[in-house]
Amino acid sequence: VIVMIAAGAIWFGANSARATPPAAGELTFDRPLHIPDLAPSTIEDGVRVFELDAAEGRTSFLPGSETPTLGYNGSYLGPTLVASRGEDVRVEVTNGLAESTTVHWHGMHLPAAMDGGPHTPIAAGATWQPEWTVDQPAASLWYHPHLHGRTREQVDAGLAGMFLIKDEEEAALPLPREYGVDDIPVIVQDRSFSADGAFSGSIGMQFDGVLGDTILVNGTVAPYLDVTTEHVRLRLLNGSSARMYDFTFADGREFALIGTDGGLLEAPAVSTSVPLSPGERAEIVVAVSPGERVVLQSQAPDPALHAGDASFDVLELRAAASLTPSPGLPATLADLPEADESDAAARRAFEMSGHSINDRQMDLGRADVVATVDTSEVWTVRNSNPLPHSFHVHDTQFRVLDVDGEAPPARLSGWKDTIALEQGREYRLLVRFEDYADPTTPYMYHCHLLWHEDQGMMGQFLVVEPGHEPDLRRPEGDSD
Ligand code: C2O
Ligand code: CU
Ligand code: CU
Repeated sequence: VIVMIAAGAIWFGANSARATPPAAGELTFDRPLHIPDLAPSTIEDGVRVFELDAAEGRTSFLPGSETPTLGYNGSYLGPTLVASRGEDVRVEVTNGLAESTTVHWHGMHLPAAMDGGPHTPIAAGATWQPEWTVDQPAASLWYHPHLHGRTREQVDAGLAGMFLIKDEEEAALPLPREYGVDDIPVIVQDRSFSADGAFSGSIGMQFDGVLGDTILVNGTVAPYLDVTTEHVRLRLLNGSSARMYDFTFADGREFALIGTDGGLLEAPAVSTSVPLSPGERAEIVVAVSPGERVVLQSQAPDPALHAGDASFDVLELRAAASLTPSPGLPATLADLPEADESDAAARRAFEMSGHSINDRQMDLGRADVVATVDTSEVWTVRNSNPLPHSFHVHDTQFRVLDVDGEAPPARLSGWKDTIALEQGREYRLLVRFEDYADPTTPYMYHCHLLWHEDQGMMGQFLVVEPGHEPDLRRPEGDSD
């Protein structure tokens, strides 16, 4: 694995052979966008209880062919979970796969033992029942497997879903929020298909993982969405394992960026594009006119990301001839605390290079960082070589203090848990560890290009009580 650090030249060669979706303007949108079901829940002793069953299945993405897939409560992807701030939730996850899995709640603030990282594998046939109190702002989070070394495979096969948090502040705002009508999950993934219908794509020469030539939105190829309201809220999730997007509309129209990974912005930011690397989310509100069709596209990402240069179509919005009026957007959305680094308890630097972080690769038995509960730290993160990378931190939503010394753009001004890293650019993050200390079970930070993560581009942090010693336990069965 180490040899790849020096393989920049080979990577550039492989880059030109990447699978690329048909160019922008070339797609015929002929399938209604699938909207994932809302997960049913029951209340047991005051706890909201969901069930997720991971299983193998077959999914028809293209006419006349079937693809072996994995899904939760269905053959591909999973239902959308919705819970409110202040609620206790439990998810009963049953592993119906032939191998172990985990379920990680990406973006969720929760105890490390409930986080679903590689330290909490669920054996084939077993049930895992994490329970925690939802205590964070309204946001679009998601869930996916996080098995050591096998995350990409399981996510690419279909294991992922959205987890929406509601709160009173968001509920009081005049925003579109009727799920499936004017509040739409948009899970964007790229896949390739072989002649027999199976997902294809080998990692081999590509240093960023598998890139597909077909875009799926919520598992739908070439989707359109019938829009019946003047405004529609799109909860964009880059659920791809390697591809980076820069979302725009084909006619260059403006939209309002209202939320990032961990919640609403202070105020809507008028934008014409929003880039998302794997794992990142953005909530946007876009206005349509009666009867029109407009296509959500992806433009070439910032060249410094080294993430390809294609533009392609994603989703067509088809506005009805007569639209239900939508209220105007509020001028302010959420109160965000000032990102104040003056009381930072520690300052640390993370250099992302090759498939390593600070020249180290993931070791389940090593705590790379030990933080003290209820403190903040400043983490300086930098991608120092020409591979596309990102940086994701579990448990917490961080703030971007600055980018190369400059104030962050609107899209990085709110709560974030994942950021893309352009080569050479330095991001300073204010990271806070609250509420939950556990000297034995770590959280993860890593590149969210899933193959990089699987290759070991990941580190572990423990959060401990002041003055307590870490006592990291390896997960059962891990020996190296
Ligand atoms: Cu979305 Cu550690 O993962
Ligand atoms: Cu995560
Ligand atoms: Cu990476």
